[in-house]
Amino acid sequence: MTRYRYYTATTLDGFLADDDHSLAWLFKQDIDENGPGSTDAFLTEVGAQVMGSSTYTWVLEHDRDWLPEIPTFVFTHRDLEAANDHISFLAGSPADHRATLVAAASGRDVWVMGGGGLAAEFAGAGMLDEVVVSIAPVTLGSGKPLFGGAFDLELKGCERNRDFVVAHYDVRGPLTNQ
Ligand SMILES: NC(=O)c1ccc[n+]([C@@H]2O[C@H](COP(=O)([O-])OP(=O)(O)OC[C@H]3O[C@@H](n4cnc5c(N)ncnc54)[C@H](OP(=O)(O)O)[C@@H]3O)[C@@H](O)[C@H]2O)c1
Repeated sequence: MTRYRYYTATTLDGFLADDDHSLAWLFKQDIDENGPGSTDAFLTEVGAQVMGSSTYTWVLEHDRDWLPEIPTFVFTHRDLEAANDHISFLAGSPADHRATLVAAASGRDVWVMGGGGLAAEFAGAGMLDEVVVSIAPVTLGSGKPLFGGAFDLELKGCERNRDFVVAHYDVRGPLTNQ
Protein backbone atom coordinates (compact mmCIF):
# COMPACT_ATOMS: atom_id res chain seq x y z
CA MET A 1 0.00 0.00 0.00
CA THR A 2 1.26 3.45 -0.87
CA ARG A 3 2.55 5.45 2.08
CA TYR A 4 3.06 9.21 2.12
CA ARG A 5 6.48 9.92 3.60
CA TYR A 6 8.00 13.29 4.44
CA TYR A 7 11.73 12.69 4.11
CA THR A 8 13.96 15.69 4.70
CA ALA A 9 16.82 17.27 6.59
CA THR A 10 16.33 19.94 9.22
CA THR A 11 18.27 22.15 11.57
CA LEU A 12 17.95 21.39 15.26
CA ASP A 13 15.59 24.35 15.59
CA GLY A 14 13.30 23.13 12.86
CA PHE A 15 14.21 24.90 9.63
CA LEU A 16 14.56 23.43 6.14
CA ALA A 17 16.37 26.42 4.71
CA ASP A 18 17.39 29.87 5.83
CA ASP A 19 15.38 33.02 5.11
CA ASP A 20 16.99 33.25 1.65
CA HIS A 21 16.33 29.57 0.83
CA SER A 22 20.02 28.73 1.32
CA LEU A 23 21.01 25.17 2.26
CA ALA A 24 24.62 26.10 3.06
CA TRP A 25 24.03 24.92 6.65
CA LEU A 26 23.22 21.45 5.25
CA PHE A 27 26.00 20.98 2.74
CA LYS A 28 28.75 21.69 5.27
CA GLN A 29 27.72 18.69 7.41
CA ASP A 30 29.51 15.35 7.36
CA ILE A 31 27.39 12.42 6.16
CA ASP A 32 27.90 8.86 4.95
CA GLU A 33 25.85 8.81 1.72
CA ASN A 34 25.38 5.05 2.13
CA GLY A 35 24.65 5.18 5.85
CA PRO A 36 21.38 5.39 7.80
CA GLY A 37 18.81 7.63 6.17
CA SER A 38 20.52 7.45 2.77
CA THR A 39 18.59 9.04 -0.07
CA ASP A 40 19.46 6.24 -2.50
CA ALA A 41 18.01 3.60 -0.18
CA PHE A 42 14.89 5.72 0.40
CA LEU A 43 14.37 6.21 -3.33
CA THR A 44 14.16 2.45 -3.92
CA GLU A 45 10.85 2.58 -2.02
CA VAL A 46 9.47 5.66 -3.74
CA GLY A 47 7.30 5.76 -6.87
CA ALA A 48 6.37 9.44 -7.02
CA GLN A 49 7.26 12.69 -5.30
CA VAL A 50 5.53 15.94 -4.44
CA MET A 51 6.96 19.34 -3.56
CA GLY A 52 6.02 22.97 -3.23
CA SER A 53 7.07 25.56 -5.77
CA SER A 54 9.91 27.09 -3.70
CA THR A 55 11.53 23.68 -3.37
CA TYR A 56 11.11 23.06 -7.10
CA THR A 57 12.55 26.46 -7.98
CA TRP A 58 15.53 25.81 -5.71
CA VAL A 59 16.21 22.49 -7.47
CA LEU A 60 15.91 24.10 -10.92
CA GLU A 61 18.38 26.79 -9.98
CA HIS A 62 20.90 24.65 -8.11
CA ASP A 63 20.92 20.99 -9.09
CA ARG A 64 18.46 19.36 -11.49
CA ASP A 65 20.00 15.97 -10.60
CA TRP A 66 17.83 16.23 -7.46
CA LEU A 67 14.85 15.43 -9.69
CA PRO A 68 14.72 11.63 -9.89
CA GLU A 69 13.15 10.15 -13.01
CA ILE A 70 9.83 9.38 -11.34
CA PRO A 71 6.48 11.17 -11.54
CA THR A 72 7.01 14.49 -9.79
CA PHE A 73 4.14 16.78 -8.80
CA VAL A 74 4.81 20.41 -8.01
CA PHE A 75 2.13 22.29 -6.08
CA THR A 76 1.81 25.83 -7.39
CA HIS A 77 -0.68 28.47 -8.43
CA ARG A 78 1.78 29.73 -11.02
CA ASP A 79 2.77 28.77 -14.55
CA LEU A 80 6.22 27.25 -14.05
CA GLU A 81 8.63 25.60 -16.49
CA ALA A 82 8.56 21.78 -16.54
CA ALA A 83 12.20 20.69 -16.24
CA ASN A 84 11.51 17.27 -17.76
CA ASP A 85 8.71 14.94 -18.86
CA HIS A 86 8.21 13.63 -15.31
CA ILE A 87 7.01 16.97 -13.95
CA SER A 88 3.33 17.87 -13.52
CA PHE A 89 1.76 20.81 -11.72
CA LEU A 90 -1.07 20.62 -9.21
CA ALA A 91 -2.96 23.08 -7.02
CA GLY A 92 -5.44 22.81 -4.19
CA SER A 93 -5.86 20.29 -1.42
CA PRO A 94 -3.75 17.12 -1.58
CA ALA A 95 -7.00 15.20 -1.00
CA ASP A 96 -8.21 16.34 -4.42
CA HIS A 97 -5.26 14.54 -6.00
CA ARG A 98 -5.15 11.35 -3.96
CA ALA A 99 -6.09 9.03 -6.82
CA THR A 100 -3.60 10.68 -9.18
CA LEU A 101 -0.76 10.37 -6.69
CA VAL A 102 -1.48 6.77 -5.75
CA ALA A 103 -1.73 5.75 -9.41
CA ALA A 104 1.53 7.53 -10.23
CA ALA A 105 3.36 5.81 -7.38
CA SER A 106 2.49 2.38 -8.83
CA GLY A 107 2.34 0.60 -5.49
CA ARG A 108 5.38 2.37 -4.05
CA ASP A 109 5.50 5.32 -1.67
CA VAL A 110 4.98 9.03 -2.29
CA TRP A 111 7.89 11.20 -1.20
CA VAL A 112 6.62 14.44 0.30
CA MET A 113 9.77 16.49 -0.23
CA GLY A 114 8.67 19.76 1.34
CA GLY A 115 8.34 22.47 2.29
CA GLY A 116 6.81 22.35 5.69
CA GLY A 117 3.56 24.03 4.71
CA LEU A 118 2.89 21.42 2.04
CA ALA A 119 3.82 18.62 4.44
CA ALA A 120 1.24 20.01 6.88
CA GLU A 121 -1.35 20.19 4.09
CA PHE A 122 -0.76 16.48 3.46
CA ALA A 123 -0.95 15.69 7.17
CA GLY A 124 -4.14 17.72 7.48
CA ALA A 125 -5.66 15.73 4.64
CA GLY A 126 -4.78 12.47 6.40
CA MET A 127 -2.16 11.87 3.71
CA LEU A 128 1.05 11.75 5.74
CA ASP A 129 2.05 8.42 7.26
CA GLU A 130 5.66 8.94 8.18
CA VAL A 131 8.26 11.62 8.81
CA VAL A 132 11.92 10.72 8.33
CA VAL A 133 14.05 13.64 9.36
CA SER A 134 17.82 14.00 9.43
CA ILE A 135 18.62 16.53 12.14
CA ALA A 136 21.79 18.55 11.66
CA PRO A 137 23.78 19.99 14.59
CA VAL A 138 23.08 23.60 13.70
CA THR A 139 20.49 26.26 14.49
CA LEU A 140 19.43 29.16 12.27
CA GLY A 141 17.08 31.14 14.47
CA SER A 142 14.77 31.75 11.52
CA GLY A 143 14.08 30.34 8.09
CA LYS A 144 11.69 28.06 6.21
CA PRO A 145 9.92 25.86 8.75
CA LEU A 146 10.06 22.06 8.89
CA PHE A 147 6.34 21.86 9.56
CA GLY A 148 3.42 24.23 9.17
CA GLY A 149 0.89 22.77 11.57
CA ALA A 150 0.22 21.06 14.90
CA PHE A 151 0.29 17.27 14.82
CA ASP A 152 1.05 14.37 17.12
CA LEU A 153 3.76 11.99 16.00
CA GLU A 154 5.18 8.80 17.45
CA LEU A 155 8.92 8.18 17.51
CA LYS A 156 9.55 4.79 15.90
CA GLY A 157 13.33 4.77 15.92
CA CYS A 158 16.49 6.77 15.41
CA GLU A 159 19.97 6.21 14.11
CA ARG A 160 23.15 8.23 13.81
CA ASN A 161 24.78 9.11 10.50
CA ARG A 162 27.97 11.04 11.35
CA ASP A 163 26.75 14.63 12.02
CA PHE A 164 23.06 13.69 11.77
CA VAL A 165 20.44 12.08 13.96
CA VAL A 166 18.03 10.28 11.62
CA ALA A 167 14.65 10.06 13.36
CA HIS A 168 11.66 8.09 12.11
CA TYR A 169 8.16 9.08 13.19
CA ASP A 170 4.66 7.87 12.41
CA VAL A 171 2.09 10.64 12.06
CA ARG A 172 -0.76 10.15 14.55
CA GLY A 173 -3.03 13.04 13.52
CA PRO A 174 -3.95 16.56 14.60
CA LEU A 175 -2.42 17.59 17.95
CA THR A 176 -4.50 16.76 20.99
CA ASN A 177 -3.74 17.81 24.55
CA GLN A 178 -3.89 14.27 25.93
N1 LIG B 1 16.45 20.67 4.16
C1 LIG B 1 15.97 19.95 3.16
O1 LIG B 1 16.31 18.77 2.99
C2 LIG B 1 14.91 20.58 2.29
C3 LIG B 1 13.91 19.80 1.75
C4 LIG B 1 12.91 20.40 1.00
C5 LIG B 1 12.94 21.76 0.79
N2 LIG B 1 13.97 22.50 1.29
C6 LIG B 1 13.99 23.96 1.11
O2 LIG B 1 13.02 24.50 2.00
C7 LIG B 1 12.43 25.66 1.41
C8 LIG B 1 10.93 25.47 1.44
O3 LIG B 1 10.31 26.60 0.94
P1 LIG B 1 8.80 26.98 1.33
O4 LIG B 1 8.68 27.01 2.80
O5 LIG B 1 8.47 28.22 0.56
O6 LIG B 1 7.90 25.76 0.83
P2 LIG B 1 7.53 25.06 -0.57
O7 LIG B 1 6.50 24.04 -0.22
O8 LIG B 1 8.73 24.59 -1.28
O9 LIG B 1 6.85 26.21 -1.45
C9 LIG B 1 5.69 26.87 -0.98
C10 LIG B 1 4.87 27.33 -2.19
O10 LIG B 1 4.30 26.20 -2.88
C11 LIG B 1 3.02 26.57 -3.41
N3 LIG B 1 2.01 25.73 -2.78
C12 LIG B 1 2.06 25.13 -1.55
N4 LIG B 1 0.95 24.43 -1.32
C13 LIG B 1 0.16 24.59 -2.41
C14 LIG B 1 -1.12 24.11 -2.78
N5 LIG B 1 -1.84 23.32 -1.97
N6 LIG B 1 -1.61 24.45 -4.00
C15 LIG B 1 -0.90 25.25 -4.84
N7 LIG B 1 0.32 25.73 -4.54
C16 LIG B 1 0.84 25.41 -3.35
C17 LIG B 1 2.82 28.06 -3.06
O11 LIG B 1 3.47 28.88 -4.04
P3 LIG B 1 2.89 29.41 -5.45
O12 LIG B 1 1.45 29.03 -5.55
O13 LIG B 1 3.10 30.88 -5.42
O14 LIG B 1 3.73 28.76 -6.51
C18 LIG B 1 3.66 28.19 -1.80
O15 LIG B 1 4.05 29.51 -1.52
C19 LIG B 1 13.02 25.78 0.01
O16 LIG B 1 14.07 26.72 0.03
C20 LIG B 1 13.59 24.41 -0.28
O17 LIG B 1 14.69 24.44 -1.17
C21 LIG B 1 14.93 21.94 2.05
